[in-house]
Amino acid sequence: MTQFLPYGRQCIDDDDIAAVVETLRGDWLTTGPAVGRFEEGVCTLAGVRHGVAVANGTAALHAAMHALGIGPGDEVIVPPMTFAATANCVLYQGGRPVFADVDPGTLLLDPAAAEAAITPRTRAIIAVDYAGQPCDWDALRAVAYRHGLALVADACHAFGGSYKGRPVGSLADISVFSFHPVKHITTGEGGMCVTDDAALAERMRVFRNHGITTTAHDREKSGGWFYEMTELGYNYRITDIQCALGLSQLRRLPGWVRRRNELANGYDEGLRGTATIPLTKKPDRLHAHHLYVVRHPRRDDTFKALRANGIGANVHYVPVHLHPYYRQTLGTGPGLCPVAEAAYGEILSLPLWPGMSDEDVARVCAVVQAVPE
Ligand SMILES: Cc1ncc(COP(=O)(O)O)c(C=O)c1O
Repeated sequence: MTQFLPYGRQCIDDDDIAAVVETLRGDWLTTGPAVGRFEEGVCTLAGVRHGVAVANGTAALHAAMHALGIGPGDEVIVPPMTFAATANCVLYQGGRPVFADVDPGTLLLDPAAAEAAITPRTRAIIAVDYAGQPCDWDALRAVAYRHGLALVADACHAFGGSYKGRPVGSLADISVFSFHPVKHITTGEGGMCVTDDAALAERMRVFRNHGITTTAHDREKSGGWFYEMTELGYNYRITDIQCALGLSQLRRLPGWVRRRNELANGYDEGLRGTATIPLTKKPDRLHAHHLYVVRHPRRDDTFKALRANGIGANVHYVPVHLHPYYRQTLGTGPGLCPVAEAAYGEILSLPLWPGMSDEDVARVCAVVQAVPE
């Protein structure tokens, strides 16, 4: 029996393991020096000044909404073609996510649709670099500027990518990464908010630690005991064990993004002439290829054939406004975002992670090619 090929997975080497073991032997398992070092490492690659590492990407989105002051009565524009966390973070703050449709070729938030969804209550736009391709950030920034809105990048798919030569992480007021094992680098669970704005960074730093202004590490360094809780926060801290792993993984990010692109090109070649339609790639962007998404008119048959052959195909995503929770609480439903809804019937994510071989790609292509017309 050939081995099951998952749609995504981590790559861990001996250096990663050694970095974690070294941390376990040290003094600080959490709120210690590895957290700041990891933040600096991510900021260097993302071309941005401040990083706040947190427990996961969802917590990072929540921290971003808090830092921007999103609250009851506020609306935040989000795309439907994303993981639920992109919209849930607005609900956590008592705000209302407002869905704006995506572009049919790229499935990225359509800047014109985002602008059309603006009301006097709109405070921010969260755009998602879906599948790893950066959004049209210049167009989104122009919309945000015209209407005085904050711009947030849900860049959980796009670490290591770039737009017009500018790295993902430096393209919005706050950008958010996830370090889940299927993402570009992993910390097991983990996430980070990055920003050039020192005040936003400070709000997110306090938010991840219950709303308390100093950490145990700060207090030990200063020799004092006093601390104050100045606002309501959460325990969204990440451990030094996780950050040591993340820091070790960072070295390989550029090579992994290159390899993801090579594998994606292999799929483009191998599927040419079949019924699959790849998503549109924009020439002015470095696609980070978290996912390799195609459209297929017989998506369900193709999905079943892949699974029957031990290949972990997937569907990203059920449009968020179609989830029962959203239908019940916000009254959303079919017809709200027709482009995303039409895509949902046809999209398929094929396996893509840097440890895959060219033979793995050929194996997947052979199964897709054999799906009856
Ligand atoms: C687009 C997007 N946003 C947010 C998240 C949430 O990240 P995490 O799983 O680290 O909480 C994910 C994770 O799958 C995601 O794909």
